[in-house]
Amino acid sequence: MQARTHHCGELRSEHVNQTVALAGWVNKYRDHGGVIFIDIRDRKGITQLVFRPSDEKLHANADRLRNEDVIWVKGTCIAREEGMANPKLATGDIEIEATELEILNKVDTPPFTPDEAPKVGEETRLRYRFIDLRQQRMQKILKTRHRVTKLMRDYFDENEFLEIETPFLCKSTPEGARDFLVPSRLQESSFYALPQSPQLFKQILMVAGMERYFQIARCFRDEDPRADRQAEFTQLDVEMSFVNQDDVMDCIENLCRKLWKDILDVDVPKLKRMPYAEAMDRFGSDRPDLRFGMELVNISDLAEKTDFKVFKGAIADGGLVKAIRVPGGASMSRKETDALAEWVKQFGAGGLPVTKVEGGKLATGIAKFLEPITDELIAKMEAQDGDLICFGVDKKSTVVHRVLGELRVKIAHQLDMIKPGQWEWLWVVDFPLVEFNEDENRYDSLHHPFTAPNPEDMHLLDSDPAKVRSLAYDIILNGSEVGGGSIRIHDKNTQSKVFSLLGISEEDAKVKFGFLLDALRFGAPPHGGIALGLDRTVMHLENTTNIRDVIAFPKTQNGVDLMTMAPSEVDPAQLQELHLRLAPSIKADAVKG
Ligand code: AMO
Repeated sequence: MQARTHHCGELRSEHVNQTVALAGWVNKYRDHGGVIFIDIRDRKGITQLVFRPSDEKLHANADRLRNEDVIWVKGTCIAREEGMANPKLATGDIEIEATELEILNKVDTPPFTPDEAPKVGEETRLRYRFIDLRQQRMQKILKTRHRVTKLMRDYFDENEFLEIETPFLCKSTPEGARDFLVPSRLQESSFYALPQSPQLFKQILMVAGMERYFQIARCFRDEDPRADRQAEFTQLDVEMSFVNQDDVMDCIENLCRKLWKDILDVDVPKLKRMPYAEAMDRFGSDRPDLRFGMELVNISDLAEKTDFKVFKGAIADGGLVKAIRVPGGASMSRKETDALAEWVKQFGAGGLPVTKVEGGKLATGIAKFLEPITDELIAKMEAQDGDLICFGVDKKSTVVHRVLGELRVKIAHQLDMIKPGQWEWLWVVDFPLVEFNEDENRYDSLHHPFTAPNPEDMHLLDSDPAKVRSLAYDIILNGSEVGGGSIRIHDKNTQSKVFSLLGISEEDAKVKFGFLLDALRFGAPPHGGIALGLDRTVMHLENTTNIRDVIAFPKTQNGVDLMTMAPSEVDPAQLQELHLRLAPSIKADAVKG
């Protein structure tokens, strides 16, 4: 093909009378009384082309054009006629009087055009992702993603971090989620695991004296995808030696400040810090959304004064009663509050008692049970006429917090309480080191087993481990966990002690983490780090709640790439080479299916 002189978003009035050549896709075709107008599109924008009937051959060629044909065109840049300028288009003052046209590729009728994509089902968009990604919106998102990684690389380079790649084919060391396994051909009956994160390698790099590491790292976790979760995702992974929590947090805060300023021209203030216990108590969540109120209020003392069996029963069982006040929520219908009661059951709630404030009194719902405490409750909740009060009741505080924590977010969205352009950042700190897993009757790490206990609480490690705080921190934006990290354990004895607290036997620890324990024996500096979700960061910057929007080739909820149709069956010879045989039942199903 012949060269182009400009991109499709570049030409302005000052280019009038110049001969130009453009290349791109036909975005729109219009025939106005014999004059053909074509919008040509490339990555940088759209330009209008004009083909007049006077040049018969050229006109006939243009007449063959259809949406998404790939063309090259030459012509003269001219000013649009008086009143014909298009202020919505950057090139809207000019058009190209075409003199030559080359059709570089004639398309079959496409399943949809980029303009139609927003109205097309997501499955179709993912199947024909190459058309979907032609949308300006999608191109802008991928451009932002590129800018984010470029700014990150510049920032860490300026701060003397080294970008170091860590392996994809790793040892399976469960970090919480399920591993993706890769069978080994050379080592029969052995498997690699794809990394859930480069956690252990980055710690080893600190022992190796690298001091400051970062990586834009692909991570793999075989868990069910959600709106903000993919099985294959990207982290900005960071580790630093000879640092404390503040050093790591400041480093990341400054990075976020730079990203938000550069990309959105938004100033990020100094971030608040909130202890985990406070976040749970006030917001029922370790990633509180501070864009709206509806804080949790403990009303157990008042609940005890009623004869309401639900309240009294929970408190007698050592539980508690908390409430949130929904401003203006009294406008919700019975049907709507019933639907919420049904919805909260997924978080373990037995139901959702509610009442409304009307004329300074309580009405509807469980109002009659609350008579003895009406005035005290209204005062404690600072409730006003027109408010709805929702109660979380359970013998377990974790259930009460989860229910009300989820509910306040749901209601805030439902009642449109979140205004656009709000950025509520915070650090959640002082996480417990471990939590008791009742099903398995053992302690689990809240972050991961390499997180350092707070030295102030070390004396509780044996006697009351659940009370030990860790040196972990999460960075939260608008109720979403953008990143998390910690200061790590750097001495072998503490690491062994934490493994044993987590029920990992000495033997098991040696098999699974022997290399780490070795590294800790041979000169590990104090170190700590963090990982930011890159996809989630771009989601915030591009104001989307769908993680698939910020990933060029994402997977569906079922983990399928609809374009390539991965995963797929493989040739029996491949299985044989890998020393694998499908279990008979699976094989039979596959034959049937
Ligand atoms: P963590 O597991 O908290 O920490 O992950 C860090 C951040 O990665 C993002 N993230 C995800 N994004 C999309 N899809 C997923 N499935 C997914 N899982 C996590 C989140 C999260 O905050 N090794 C530690 C970090 C450290 O301690 O330094 C780790 O991986 O934004």
